[in-house]
Amino acid sequence: MNSRRPWLTLPLVALAVVALAAQSVHLDDAAIRVEVEKIRQPGMMNVPRADGEFLHDLIVVRGYRRALEIGTSNGYSAVWIALALRKTGGRLVTLEIDARRADLAAENFKRLGLEPYVDLRRGDALKLIPALEGPFDFVFIDAWKEDYPKYFDLVFPKLGPGGAILAHNVLSHAPELKAFLEMLQTHPQLETRIERRSSAGISVSIKK
Ligand SMILES: C[S@@+](CC[C@H](N)C(=O)[O-])C[C@H]1O[C@@H](n2cnc3c(N)ncnc32)[C@H](O)[C@@H]1O
Repeated sequence: MNSRRPWLTLPLVALAVVALAAQSVHLDDAAIRVEVEKIRQPGMMNVPRADGEFLHDLIVVRGYRRALEIGTSNGYSAVWIALALRKTGGRLVTLEIDARRADLAAENFKRLGLEPYVDLRRGDALKLIPALEGPFDFVFIDAWKEDYPKYFDLVFPKLGPGGAILAHNVLSHAPELKAFLEMLQTHPQLETRIERRSSAGISVSIKK
């Protein structure tokens, strides 16, 4: 390269390095664990940090790779999920109907270098899910509570054996989610428990 003008080589290499670094932000786990708290904003309805960490740990421990999230908001829980999938070699499909929150989520995934692990789809999850190709092995439901039964019906056939379907707020929204939780707990193909790391409560159902 530039054998006739060797004095050009060093600046060109330096420029290339800077350009590459600007394109590929690759924060390590520890850096993202600090950065992720900057995403949490009032009004974004983000899960508590303890719940985000739980989602991450469950995916890593069970080696899940094909994840679906219903209700992205600005991407807080999705970042925890994506961080885990970066370790397992998986990918997240996450669905958000609100354009402004979806834009913020896209910015956050980019800023943290997690874009390769997240497929953000904009629109109504009730319309998007039927077109999604399964199977999934991890599903996290965190949208409007009255729609949880509909999401379950759409997603359950796409969940493989050993896969997990999780629903957020089963304790904090107990009255609204009572019938839904009972359905999960009595479903013949599910083993269901409640994770109580935060007062929100997450139902964790594993498909037999
Ligand atoms: C509780 S927030 C999700 C918080 C997010 N999981 C987090 O921890 O950062 C619920 C989100 O679900 C979205 N939502 C509600 N109904 C939806 C639907 N039918 N399709 C897609 N997204 C929906 C809302 O716009 C809202 O952003």
